[in-house]
Amino acid sequence: MAMPISIPANRPDPCALIIFGASGDLTQRKLVPALYELYCQGNLPENLFVIGVSRTEMSDDDFRWHLGEGASRHAIGYEEGKWREFARRLHYLAGSATKAELYPKLKARTRELAEVHGLPTPGLGSTDQTWACLPNTLFYLSVAPHLVEPIVSRIGEAGMVYEGKRWCSIGEGPMPWQRIIVEKPIGTNLESAREQVRALGRVFEEESIYRIDHYLGKELVQNILVMRFANTFFEPLWNNKYVDHVQVTAAEQVGVGRRAGGFYDRAGALRDMIQSHLLQIMALVAMEPPASFDPTAIRREKIKLIDAVREVSPEDAAQFAAFGRYAGSGNSADDDGGLGYAELEGVEAEQRTETYAALKLHIDNWRWSGVPFFVRSGKKMPRKLTEVVIQFREPPVRLFNHVDPRRGEGVSHANRIVINIAPDEGMSLRLEAKVPGPSLRIKPVKMDLDYAYVFNAQPLESYGPLMLEAMRGDQTLFKHRDEVDGAWRICEPFLTSEQLRASVETYGAYSWGPSAADALIGGDGRAWHNPDAGERR
Ligand SMILES: NC(=O)c1ccc[n+]([C@@H]2O[C@H](COP(=O)([O-])OP(=O)(O)OC[C@H]3O[C@@H](n4cnc5c(N)ncnc54)[C@H](OP(=O)(O)O)[C@@H]3O)[C@@H](O)[C@H]2O)c1
Repeated sequence: MAMPISIPANRPDPCALIIFGASGDLTQRKLVPALYELYCQGNLPENLFVIGVSRTEMSDDDFRWHLGEGASRHAIGYEEGKWREFARRLHYLAGSATKAELYPKLKARTRELAEVHGLPTPGLGSTDQTWACLPNTLFYLSVAPHLVEPIVSRIGEAGMVYEGKRWCSIGEGPMPWQRIIVEKPIGTNLESAREQVRALGRVFEEESIYRIDHYLGKELVQNILVMRFANTFFEPLWNNKYVDHVQVTAAEQVGVGRRAGGFYDRAGALRDMIQSHLLQIMALVAMEPPASFDPTAIRREKIKLIDAVREVSPEDAAQFAAFGRYAGSGNSADDDGGLGYAELEGVEAEQRTETYAALKLHIDNWRWSGVPFFVRSGKKMPRKLTEVVIQFREPPVRLFNHVDPRRGEGVSHANRIVINIAPDEGMSLRLEAKVPGPSLRIKPVKMDLDYAYVFNAQPLESYGPLMLEAMRGDQTLFKHRDEVDGAWRICEPFLTSEQLRASVETYGAYSWGPSAADALIGGDGRAWHNPDAGERR
């Protein structure tokens, strides 16, 4: 019998957290501030300690100071005294993680600190020296993608991973686990993603690999599942009989700025946002109900959905996509100094990297056959916004005369659900309603639900909860290798289409994107949901 849906509340296991890339931006700005917040909320396992690894020479104290600076700027509720208390758990080991000589030191330090922090080392006394005396260990790879393979290989060669033998052992006593969190991007195309998948798979079981997607940590993405499957009235409507189309949008107001040359020009909007995040959101919105809230059951449904997305050939890709890049704003105070993307330092203009991408996708299954899914992401848009729009069909018979203040008489508005993921998490439902008065006039109205207001709660930064899930061993919010593979299979034809690349259109800074994107959705009388200034959903 299927288990009832419930959010796992089990406490995370105590463990050592080993962060590779500890002197870098992500560790200072996101990971450690998130750990500090968890500590203040009492959500960190009691004996948890961190070992940061990178090549820069630093003492533990230097490392704590460097991280303290980041936490004071980025952690919610930073307090000097509380930070000092927490910082005792932070340690540092300088060295190159791609070199084998680091690992004996890392193992020795991990054992020594496990003792200092009172972390259980289940193998104590075992004769098997490959894992004896190591505590539960969570590795976090916060390094450039090309370092993943060499670091994972060194971890394996050093005998720090025992997980594969753990699950199939018979009659063994308690043994430590080893898990690994891997940052995006996972490859730059299908082939390089597969290489990374293979490199990880040679050392870690798939059940121990946590491919992070910080978008999935957001409350509302989890809420999509609750909304769909804890309420009875959405599900009967959630199909091609009632839904006209679906839009998934991630818009950013910022430009690329200084990151253009170093990173963005080799990535672009499709790789950076759609392949890695938006297809995941689409899968949650469109997948079949899982048999339980079990991570494996949810992942299976997401994989099935991604596998059902119709693949297009590179020759046809331009018919199903639009690419753009933003023009200069002329405002020297903005993140690009008022320049257009193509003029930024480090950008190879002839590479024609897109800062905006929109795709029209089809899902070839019984539920969604004939319903297009429009997925778009862009920079320098009028506002920051991540949302899903479920646009329903018009009623089969039009009984009433509708009045739209902007579009005049005789226009009816089909129902629409807007699920806001960021910045204000919430949901709105557009209904047609009668304007009070003697004449029968119909106008669209919105029922709006603001999660922060209703629950009097602020959304959490996603990295903290995601790290806790990995410590709990819950993979619901992380990507399986088949999801990564499927997302690249969907995106690759668009990335390699020469016609699409040649057609990259310049769009105005702070506009809703290129005209080709309007044409992409507008063919059948549809339009993007572009909220007006001040409109929340
Ligand atoms: N920053 C973000 O907001 C963000 C967001 C999403 C994803 N990511 C991803 O997270 C990863 C890290 O990003 P980041 O922004 O933190 O990059 P970063 O600031 O460039 O940091 C990279 C880190 O890797 C270390 N490193 C380089 N070679 C090493 C080696 N051989 N052994 C050990 N450490 C080594 C560097 O330190 P040393 O020079 O001291 O060795 C540095 O600490 C990337 O994959 C990125 O795509 C970052």
